[in-house]
Amino acid sequence: METIQKDFEWNGKVALITGIGGQDGSYLAEFLLSKGYKVRGMIRRSSYPNTKRIDHLDIYDDVYGKTPESPFYLLYGDLSDSTSIRNILEEVQPDEVYNLASQSHVSVSFNSPESTLNFNAIGPLRILEAIRNMKLSCKYYQASSSEMYGISPPPQNEETPMIPQSPYGISKLAAFHLTRMYRNAYGLYATNGILFNHESPRRGVNFVTRKITRGLAYILTGRKEKLSLGNLDAKRDWGYAKEYVEAMWLMLQQDKPDDYVIGTKESHTVKEFVEEAFNLVNLNWKDFVEILDRYKRPAEVPTLLADSSKAERVLGWKPKTKFKDLVKIMVAADLKEAMQETGYLHVNDMNMPDDFYIEKGKELAKGIKLKRKRI
Ligand code: NAP
Ligand code: GDD
Repeated sequence: METIQKDFEWNGKVALITGIGGQDGSYLAEFLLSKGYKVRGMIRRSSYPNTKRIDHLDIYDDVYGKTPESPFYLLYGDLSDSTSIRNILEEVQPDEVYNLASQSHVSVSFNSPESTLNFNAIGPLRILEAIRNMKLSCKYYQASSSEMYGISPPPQNEETPMIPQSPYGISKLAAFHLTRMYRNAYGLYATNGILFNHESPRRGVNFVTRKITRGLAYILTGRKEKLSLGNLDAKRDWGYAKEYVEAMWLMLQQDKPDDYVIGTKESHTVKEFVEEAFNLVNLNWKDFVEILDRYKRPAEVPTLLADSSKAERVLGWKPKTKFKDLVKIMVAADLKEAMQETGYLHVNDMNMPDDFYIEKGKELAKGIKLKRKRI
């Protein structure tokens, strides 16, 4: 986690982030704090802590507590609860609202379609309607998704037809149109960021990239023997989440609200991701990966490839981290964590460059290959 300065110079703006405990919410909170925003985050009650990714921001609590002066604090709320949304907006009086909260797992949306539609489609409607009724002049960002394109052929840009293939994709498409409708009909500053897949060491562990890098780290540290996956042929445009939150912010700094595609303009198969990860430590992925039907989906999105020319042109935003670097960042981070948990690392080895953990991974891989030969 990054070191956050306790010294804080307010830029006069307040941002509200829903889904602040998620991958993107945590990076966005850090980014906005670094820009001098006061950040308020909505979290929902959970029986077990769901704030691991933002616990390091607690340092502000020691100095300010939950006061209007505080650079950062959290409020309980839920996208299915209009009252909580209105109360939070009333208390926070935000200049910018980033709606990142959602049931974000495509596969899970086939199991829980109703709650997915409730959180992801009606949730944004609840926020937009509250902003309109309360006559707030804040800017609104909607976390739209490349999953909305579904089976539309690549490359996909802001003009590409959307043919979603999952309850998740449909829920996000409804929210996308609601955001546009509130912009056009009521003049709200409401913007859609159509983000293609973005990953990081903070990615949820059941998304395919993190499942692969964590699975590899578990294999290397002897906690697992195999990695079980589904469809290896799907292609995705994978970028680095830490860079994508700047694009969200840039969108809300424009004079007029609009819709923007954000991606890397590169697409790779799941198989290529697995191969790249295992190659980094000199292992052959085919010796460790099994394919299980239960990880395949009732309907699949075959290929996503962003044409993010508009974002480059209008926002001046371009990704810096491409495929191979992203895989390396994630493999190194998961190796570090797994080696720490299993006692392979000294306390002094906790702040080393990524290559250090990859080299350690290669050493562990040699041991695994030797053991396999003997058996
Ligand atoms: P994530 O890690 O799954 O985070 C989602 C957050 O939403 C979590 O903090 C979750 O809280 C919260 N949440 C879920 N349901 C909620 C509810 N009913 N009320 C309040 N909070 C709720 O997702 P992410 O990767 O950061 O993605 C952020 C947003 O961008 C999501 O809307 C996602 O659909 C969208 N998106 C993501 C990508 C991507 O590749 N990452 C691409 C395009 C769009 P809990 O921890 O309590 O579950
Ligand atoms: N999760 C998962 N688990 N996916 C697998 C597996 C597996 O074991 N095996 C293969 N896959 C394939 C999926 O079928 C899909 O084609 C691809 O890997 C990517 O799956 P996910 O990582 O779950 O991401 P996603 O593309 O379905 O959805 C993500 O990206 C969207 C943007 O396009 C999520 O972050 C969504 O919230 C986001 O909107």
